Amino acid sequence: MKIISTIDELRDQLRGQLRTAFVPTMGNLHEGHLSLMRLARRHGDPVVASIFVNRLQFGPNEDFDKYPRTFEADAEKLEKEGVYVLFAPTEKDLYPEPQEYRVQPPDDLGGTLEGEFRPAMFPGVCTVVTKLFSCVQPRVAVFGKKDYQQLMIIRNMARQFAMPTEVIGAETVRAADGLALSSRNGYLDAAERAEAPALYRTLQDVAERVRASHPGLPALEREAMAHLSARGWQPDYVSIRKRADLKPPTREEYAAGAGLLVLAAARLGATRLIDNLEIER
Ligand code: PAF
Repeated sequence: MKIISTIDELRDQLRGQLRTAFVPTMGNLHEGHLSLMRLARRHGDPVVASIFVNRLQFGPNEDFDKYPRTFEADAEKLEKEGVYVLFAPTEKDLYPEPQEYRVQPPDDLGGTLEGEFRPAMFPGVCTVVTKLFSCVQPRVAVFGKKDYQQLMIIRNMARQFAMPTEVIGAETVRAADGLALSSRNGYLDAAERAEAPALYRTLQDVAERVRASHPGLPALEREAMAHLSARGWQPDYVSIRKRADLKPPTREEYAAGAGLLVLAAARLGATRLIDNLEIER
């Protein structure tokens, strides 16, 4: 595996490659990331991964400084997965001058859910992903469904800008107790780690109740949030949305069988976790 930090060297290395499959990451790789590498391999060759903790997508009081950086261990894991190039630019390599041009997602998709609570997130993600796509020029790129809204925003961005990159979503990988794998799980202490699967169980409960009847989705959302609060969480949202556009379904859309999912974000102690579940009905 070649570890490359500059854009020029990356372009030289990938020149002539027409089937590159790309997995951008912020490092601290776990089994969830490795499953993205394996999916990438099924859709293209060579597989290129990147590790870059992107300051642009963190708000001023968020965890940019403490975000876990485990480069050596990450590189070893990627090598074992048969990744051809690891692009690991420094901030100076990727942003040699202040990044004044930004890619701004539309408000209705980028300003809701995560966008409401983390306004820097999606403009930062769209900007860095556009730049990384421009460096790697992948035919396909893989993103996890754990960040469902991010996946949708990037997929729509690639389509609207006619980027020659197909955006593929990968299933969420969970621990045996249901907790979605995330680099931020490492912030949890033992008691919080034991409590953390309650977020997924809450989503399962909401999904089950949506399947069983339609008592009013806002009431279900409120009850789920109250349940988490009673267990000591501080929920930002539990929200049932349409898979197609992440808007709340109307009664008519619900009755017509619109594809739904439930998304949640909640703080446990100092750690903010997100998760989602597609509702089969
Ligand atoms: O999902 C992530 O790890 C990041 O948001 C991404 C897509 C690598 C952009 O920095």
